[in-house]
Amino acid sequence: MKRHVKAGLAGITLLAACAAHVPALADNAQRALGEELAARQCAGCHGIHTAKGVTFQGVYVPSFSEVANRPNQTPERLQALITMPAHPMTTPALGDRELRQLAEYIFSLRAP
Ligand code: HEC
Repeated sequence: MKRHVKAGLAGITLLAACAAHVPALADNAQRALGEELAARQCAGCHGIHTAKGVTFQGVYVPSFSEVANRPNQTPERLQALITMPAHPMTTPALGDRELRQLAEYIFSLRAP
């Protein structure tokens, strides 16, 4: 079991390393990592595979597809929203790279 986890992590690291040299693949890998982070750190409140949000402590928590489809949304704006959250969302513990991955993932849900 432990071995599988290790092999999986090595695979992800390798993918990320290769991805750095291939722009299209790099984007996909970043988004995939962002989706994983979202599932772990955000899905407790935000619907990540749903169109509609939920209510948490009396506040509407938009789904990530709603957030992505706001007018004039950009990955940069998303990063700012994530790092300066409105109550009752708490400030997530994220590094710069994780923040970018999350923003890329959420932005990828924007309808063309
Ligand atoms: C404790 C519950 C909770 C968690 C965990 C949480 N959020 Fe939130 N989030 C909220 C709530 C509630 C709001 C709406 C706040 C408001 O505007 O009143 C919100 C708003 C947002 C917004 C702004 C949406 C808009 O209206 O444009 C973004 C972006 C966002 N969250 C991203 C994230 C990301 C990324 C994570 C994971 C790292 C995360 N959130 C984790 C509760 C949460």
